[in-house]
Amino acid sequence: MDHFLYKDGILHAEDVAIPEIAASVGTPFYVYSTATLTRHFDVFTEALSGMDHLICYAMKSNSNQAVIAHMAALGAGMDVVSGGEYLRAKAAGVPGDKIVFSGVGKTAEEMRMALDGGIRQFNVESEPEMERLSQVARSLGKVAPITIRVNPDVDAKTHEKISTGRKEDKFGIPIGRAREVYARAAALPGVKVVGIDVHIGSQLTNLEPFELAYGKVADLTRQLREDGHEITRLDLGGGLGIPYERSNSAPPLPLDYGDVIRRTVGDLGCEIEIEPGRLISGNAGLLVASTIYVKHGEGRDFLILDAAMNDLIRPAMYGAWHDIIPVREAEAGAEQQPYDIVGPVCESGDTFARQRNLPEIREDDLIAFRSAGAYGAVMSSEYNSRPLIPEVMVKGDQFAVIRARPSFDDMINRDTLPQWA
Ligand code: LLP
Repeated sequence: MDHFLYKDGILHAEDVAIPEIAASVGTPFYVYSTATLTRHFDVFTEALSGMDHLICYAMKSNSNQAVIAHMAALGAGMDVVSGGEYLRAKAAGVPGDKIVFSGVGKTAEEMRMALDGGIRQFNVESEPEMERLSQVARSLGKVAPITIRVNPDVDAKTHEKISTGRKEDKFGIPIGRAREVYARAAALPGVKVVGIDVHIGSQLTNLEPFELAYGKVADLTRQLREDGHEITRLDLGGGLGIPYERSNSAPPLPLDYGDVIRRTVGDLGCEIEIEPGRLISGNAGLLVASTIYVKHGEGRDFLILDAAMNDLIRPAMYGAWHDIIPVREAEAGAEQQPYDIVGPVCESGDTFARQRNLPEIREDDLIAFRSAGAYGAVMSSEYNSRPLIPEVMVKGDQFAVIRARPSFDDMINRDTLPQWA
């Protein structure tokens, strides 16, 4: 559920009419609902109730300062994957002991940054990384708390590009080698094992892969304890999917996901961490665009929007579906017609949807893409020299610009000419 509903025929974000925001900031823009973010956090809290846990919001899905600060105020920890994300979390006031550092290629500098600023744990993904972390921590006279990310060789049955837990994926160490690697970790100064980490992919629409992977983690926990390791924490990653196509999908509920966790690892006495991104921020955001032209093509009509693939790359990159709706609600029983919905960027990949049924759309009509709060703004670029678009946050009847649209000069003046030019 989200807080983007029609009221008197006009799409609202909570209590703010979308056209009001459009008039104030111009299109295209992203708009986020704080009530939806809160609701999604609460749903996970309820799902994990009775278990000692920390929800570490995967900042990569949406790392605007206002979003992170809101999540932190709810009590969330953060899952970061770069020095930049780590600094963003700190800038939003997240304490180091609530930040977990994931990612396959942490640099020595990023390790130093996190050790100096405070960190809950590093999720180590390889032996060379563990050796590097050991060196860096020792050079600072510190001990780095670590989990080791295991690759359970489970197919998450999601899109190829966001599947991370099969043996051919670059992530984690093969679970079959885990005992050996934990033995090495125990012997290594500068790092201290606190648990196990796993993350098998994103946009999972079935609980079975989670069940398989977490079952393997439970077995490994027992084995490692027998080997003498203290396993007190399990980081179970993120990945729970959302309904991108509302009329035709019903991914599992967080409550059922919580039951999987309870069933598989609930009796181990471990503190549970999860790293949801998409389920928290995805349906908390819309991308709002305006129709520049309606173009009658050969056998099809194109809606040419002022948003493009540089603003929302998911359809071009993953063939992803986003529900697309008019901001002005169609009259009951209004006829629908198929449109190809595209942006102005100069490649055919700049297509959001083909033959999508919508009520008649005219020039200047506002259009909203649902489920655009995750992996939307964060993956945008200035391709075709289109400045990044603004982000707006709504709370009740208030809205605020949380990232302003840069001017063309801002964009151009980031470049500098070499002195010989
Ligand atoms: N933890 C780790 C270690 C991850 O790599 C990810 C996502 C998450 C947590 C959060 O997963 P989520 O709950 O959001 O599914 N750009 C792609 C998604 C990439 C996901 C990368 N890792 C998309 O637009 O679909």
